[in-house]
Amino acid sequence: MSVRGLSGARERRIRTGGIELCVAELGDAARPTVVLVHGYPDSKEVWSEVAARLAERFHVVLYDVRGHGRSTAPKPLRGGFTLEKLTDDFLTVADAVSPDRPVHLVGHDWGSVQCWEFATVGRTEGRIASFTSMSGPSLDHFGHWIKRRMSRPTPRRLGQLLGQGAKSWYVYMLHTPVLPELAWRGPLGKLWPRILQRVEKVPADDYPTASLPQDAAHGAWLYRDNVRARLRRPRTDAHAHVPVQLITPTGDAFLSERLHDDLGAWVPRLTRRTLDAKHWVPRTRPDQLALWIAGFVDAHEEGPARHAGATTAAEPRRRPFEERFGGRLVLVTGAASGIGRATALAFAEAGARVVAVDRDAQGAVRTAESARLAGAAAAWAETVDVSDEQAVEKLAQKVTTEYGTVDVLVNNAGIGLSGPFLATTSDDWRQVLDVNLWGVIHGCRIFGGRMAERGQGGHIVNVASAAAYLPTRTLPAYSTSKAAVLMLSECLRAELAGRDIGVSAVCPGIVNTNITATARFAGVDEIEEKRRQKKSARLYGLRNYPPEKVAEAILRAVARNQAVVPVTPESRGARVLSRLAPGVLRAFARIEPRL
Ligand code: NAI
Repeated sequence: MSVRGLSGARERRIRTGGIELCVAELGDAARPTVVLVHGYPDSKEVWSEVAARLAERFHVVLYDVRGHGRSTAPKPLRGGFTLEKLTDDFLTVADAVSPDRPVHLVGHDWGSVQCWEFATVGRTEGRIASFTSMSGPSLDHFGHWIKRRMSRPTPRRLGQLLGQGAKSWYVYMLHTPVLPELAWRGPLGKLWPRILQRVEKVPADDYPTASLPQDAAHGAWLYRDNVRARLRRPRTDAHAHVPVQLITPTGDAFLSERLHDDLGAWVPRLTRRTLDAKHWVPRTRPDQLALWIAGFVDAHEEGPARHAGATTAAEPRRRPFEERFGGRLVLVTGAASGIGRATALAFAEAGARVVAVDRDAQGAVRTAESARLAGAAAAWAETVDVSDEQAVEKLAQKVTTEYGTVDVLVNNAGIGLSGPFLATTSDDWRQVLDVNLWGVIHGCRIFGGRMAERGQGGHIVNVASAAAYLPTRTLPAYSTSKAAVLMLSECLRAELAGRDIGVSAVCPGIVNTNITATARFAGVDEIEEKRRQKKSARLYGLRNYPPEKVAEAILRAVARNQAVVPVTPESRGARVLSRLAPGVLRAFARIEPRL
């Protein structure tokens, strides 16, 4: 990997609270400002690779945290590194480099710990457009996380506590007086570059810089001034007032993934991403980080910039479900048309990041374009046949690597098939089961598996149908496929409940979509099939129940974690009858419709 230091950067010194901060800037100052905050033991140079990549498109700002790199240290050191003082520093830097526009924050390790403070205290409101966090939790959230596990211990929770406790060994060490300073200024300081290369696989280049022993010695006060106090008495109002992108390296030796399990309660607009990497991602994965940071900045440049300094602008309209789905990654199958398209757009309106999947490539692209216009934080189109297991697996690999683990999966793709059982061939059966049932199985297994593995919850919606509990002599294959989807959803719901993953089966009645035009009719010739398709399209058109209403029900089902959701009056009626008076439905099932 080539080494691109900060040599081309414009450097200046900014005075604040009795110290001088060394600030470096790259890129065009007229572009959106991205502020990169380094961790421990580090200086701003940890970001050099990421900064060089981002500078092609943004105004990139880095500063040495007080006492680190070429920033001066407070005197005395004790009490000079509190989060309050670090917030003063950030605001001074932000005012100097971007006085009129809010900045996009990015923090790694202790840089992220600080940024959480900036993103959750009132006095920074309007100054931050977005925050990308990696490998550094909020001490307040961490404090509550510990308290919750101590107050209601279960074997699993105790395991989580012990797991994180073991990973925090260095924090206890850093609380001992003098010894850490001696170690860093002595042998540890000399060994550190080799340790980083061997253990963390950080490439051998001009990082870390010569200031390392001093950075590490001063930085011990970051821990001493804040950790014990905050963990003992965490703030109860530490809610993020900015959208947050959380990047979790899965091989982090210092932080457990479980730490972020409760984060949704603190961050209304949360985007989660996982990265197969160790702790020092700014050095080991600069390409991926630059890509994700740039995407997040792009997605939030318009919105928050509009809100920022909004002294005269009217309060922006709150979109329904925005708090619940803003920034979430939502994947919808069969998104090119009908219910799937409406669902993708409803999630987009709520500010989600949407992956529109369909075997109809152009239709998927159209939905993704509309999703962007509707307000999606981001939207992509993917062409996949959901009945093709390998294609779904490939899709999951791509989505996980490029966009993250899916938070909400909507298995909606489906096809219609009408006609009596005795006229339905094995091929007809195979076709309908392949899409309507196997498509759902592949989605649940492949995406649901990754959701479960991530361990941060999620939701799966399977679009079944009223046909799942409404027998008819005209839809034996279709109804069987949908009944199977309903039962699969119920079983999976039971299995995944313990992992915080909800499963909903949504059962629409007659909805005015394109399904009638493409549904097949078994046992008739092509001309008759066309005639029947036209006739049922007319009937569905007369009924005229809009797919947007089903989409609304889907979002509600996720928000409320509902198990089975009949949509449309006829579907609700059939559901009640199927339980109270199934004989009535059986009698209806015998009627032969005239098509
Ligand atoms: P639609 O025909 O308007 O949309 C279905 C979409 O799924 C199309 O874009 C199609 O290209 C896509 N698709 C079909 N097979 C696929 C495959 N193998 N891989 C990827 N994409 C595929 O139909 P609609 O009505 O929006 O249907 C959505 C779901 O709702 C289906 O599961 C359907 O069974 C179900 N449903 C529909 C009802 C209705 O009255 N329209 C009633 C009850 C359930």
